[in-house]
Amino acid sequence: MDFSEYCRARKSIRGFTKEPLPMSLVDKIIDTAKWAPSSYNSQTWKIHAVAGEALDKIREGNTRNTMAGVPVKREFAYIEEYQDVHRRNQIDVAVQLFEMMGIERDDKAKRMDWMLRGFKQFDAPVSLVLTYDKYLEPAAMTHFACGSLAYGIVLAAWELGVGCIINGQGIQQPDVVREHAKIPEDEVIMITIAMGYPDYDFPANNVKSRRVENADFVSYVGFDDE
Ligand SMILES: Cc1cc2nc3c(=O)[nH]c(=O)nc-3n(C[C@H](O)[C@H](O)[C@H](O)COP(=O)(O)O)c2cc1C
Repeated sequence: MDFSEYCRARKSIRGFTKEPLPMSLVDKIIDTAKWAPSSYNSQTWKIHAVAGEALDKIREGNTRNTMAGVPVKREFAYIEEYQDVHRRNQIDVAVQLFEMMGIERDDKAKRMDWMLRGFKQFDAPVSLVLTYDKYLEPAAMTHFACGSLAYGIVLAAWELGVGCIINGQGIQQPDVVREHAKIPEDEVIMITIAMGYPDYDFPANNVKSRRVENADFVSYVGFDDE
């Protein structure tokens, strides 16, 4: 597959087989992904790779807190509501996912169950927690670097048949994640990436999200062939 086809074929995976991922494989993925660009090559990212009992404790703690109504939070400034076309894009993929999963709009129990899947890291065998040093705050360049690393991870994993989901829900109870992933207090938790071998019998894995046309978000200036 050429690179263009490869990028178009990748998708987020939200259901995994039980097969564990060896540390050596995760390390190989990271070894490729770390060639991602960062500002001044500062590489201001850190990764805490979590599996086994530690990850199960994160799932349990996240679920317990969510069920108990502990408010979600993030360790960085964040806009919770998208607007206009961004909101339409968000709804578009949510509708695709809910249809594929057979979740009706007013089925509160199934919707709750779906939300909890995110807090449970989609039951993936491995979760990578991306963090950065607190001294970097407000850290906009580092957020950019973490995004670049995250996409590197997702692409490098896909090449090896490993599926990923970049998972914002997974860090919405950051105190739980910090405790069980053993993340020092002087690091900010940015995002998690759940990874494992895709279970293609899991309906949501058959969703292919859509993209808006280039003309809707790109402007060209000064080209001869405009
Ligand atoms: C920063 C970030 C946070 C995300 N958080 C979640 C999440 O909490 N739950 C989820 O189901 N998907 C999450 N995703 C995955 C997106 O929903 C997904 O990338 C998008 O719908 C496009 O689909 P695709 O990755 O299959 O192309 C997140 C992606 C990014 C980049």
